[in-house]
Amino acid sequence: SDKDVASLFDRENGRIDPQIYTDEALYQQELELIFGRSWLLLGHETQIPKAGDFMTQYMGEDPVIVSRQRDGSISVFLNQCRHRGMRICRADGGNAKSFTCSYHGWAYDSAGNLVSVPFQQEAFPDLKKEDWGPLKARVETYKGLIFANWDSEAPDLDTYLGEAKFYMDHMLDRTEAGTEALPGIEKWVIQCNWKFAAEQFCSDMYHVGTTSHLSGLLAGLPDEIDIREVQPPTTGIQYSAPWGGHGSGFYIGEMGTLAAVMGMKILEYYTSGPAAEKAAKRLGSAVRGSQATGQHMTVFPTCSFLPGINTIRTWHPRGPHEIEVWSFTVVDADAPAEIKEEYRRQTIRTFSAGGVFDQDDGENWVEIQSVLRGHKARSRPFNAEMSLRETNTADPDWPGTISYVYSEEAARGFYAHWSRMMTAPDWAALNATRPTPNADVSA
Ligand code: FES
Ligand code: FE
Repeated sequence: SDKDVASLFDRENGRIDPQIYTDEALYQQELELIFGRSWLLLGHETQIPKAGDFMTQYMGEDPVIVSRQRDGSISVFLNQCRHRGMRICRADGGNAKSFTCSYHGWAYDSAGNLVSVPFQQEAFPDLKKEDWGPLKARVETYKGLIFANWDSEAPDLDTYLGEAKFYMDHMLDRTEAGTEALPGIEKWVIQCNWKFAAEQFCSDMYHVGTTSHLSGLLAGLPDEIDIREVQPPTTGIQYSAPWGGHGSGFYIGEMGTLAAVMGMKILEYYTSGPAAEKAAKRLGSAVRGSQATGQHMTVFPTCSFLPGINTIRTWHPRGPHEIEVWSFTVVDADAPAEIKEEYRRQTIRTFSAGGVFDQDDGENWVEIQSVLRGHKARSRPFNAEMSLRETNTADPDWPGTISYVYSEEAARGFYAHWSRMMTAPDWAALNATRPTPNADVSA
């Protein structure tokens, strides 16, 4: 990169240098400075319920093994044999007491300790096995979701999530039973930079009313819903949390939209009846329990959710020009079997590899990425100044810095945090520049 990294995003004027989506050197810096230091989503606790259960995952481009220990804790370690670097485990998941490298047979226990080396006495008489285990990551969970971080200096997960927890609870904490993951992780590839996906999910309600999703909404419209109830939302808020990007579009009371996306059964389950009442009690208001749908959010950098629709995905980067999407769906653990099945059916139809709405979003990102192959196409900044001059305020009901649902404040928060992560030498420096929640961030 020939430009100063700090100049690539201009917060004051809402300008994005397109180079951040294409530059290979910047991408390598992202792997080190962002993916090497942030809390990254690895899945849901119910995906590995029993001792010995494991799944293979990624932290950025680094493959890892996520494995349940006998004491109930979870270990995460690099899926790389220390002998010559072969993947220690090549399965997607399963149950195992140990992992044996398929190249020369070094074996690791389920916590990632090297426990056996073939012909060790004869061939490696001086080898100390305790020195040759794979790199281990910090692991913490939030209401069922498993996160890991390579950086020992990073704040704990609770601090990192901050104000975002309140919004995550609308999906994760509607019942004392918590959530469970529906079986299976869907994985697919999109030819676009990871930031297009992560930013859109944290901030962009603007695209919903244009070509992007109108046809999908119309195609899935239940007979009971009048299309006039499925207009793009006009009420709602957007928030930006201090660790950036934990932004969210959020609107309230536009019930037609949830029905058009997820059908009448889910609408009824989510907005009326005992489950909604319980949620209202737990979340502290009827609005939050039964009407706070249509939310979308990103936990920086690559973990996005659609509470209400309940898809959760990680946008794993694969170079500056490609992502692998890993996606699963959660449901209230105590929901009736019929509702769980309906969530499975509807999320496959809407937000999945072949889902109508994921198709719409992906098509835009792929086209942008393709346009950015042009030299002139990268010569001028993108515009992210929506609602830039509006005063963003504190709101007693909604934590974070609050702006209108049609704003790019959460996107600006996302890129401001990106910029901080790309320029701060360590977490001590990041903590020193932590924005104050509820402050006017345009100041
Ligand atoms: Fe794993 Fe040789 S690379 S045992
Ligand atoms: Fe979309």
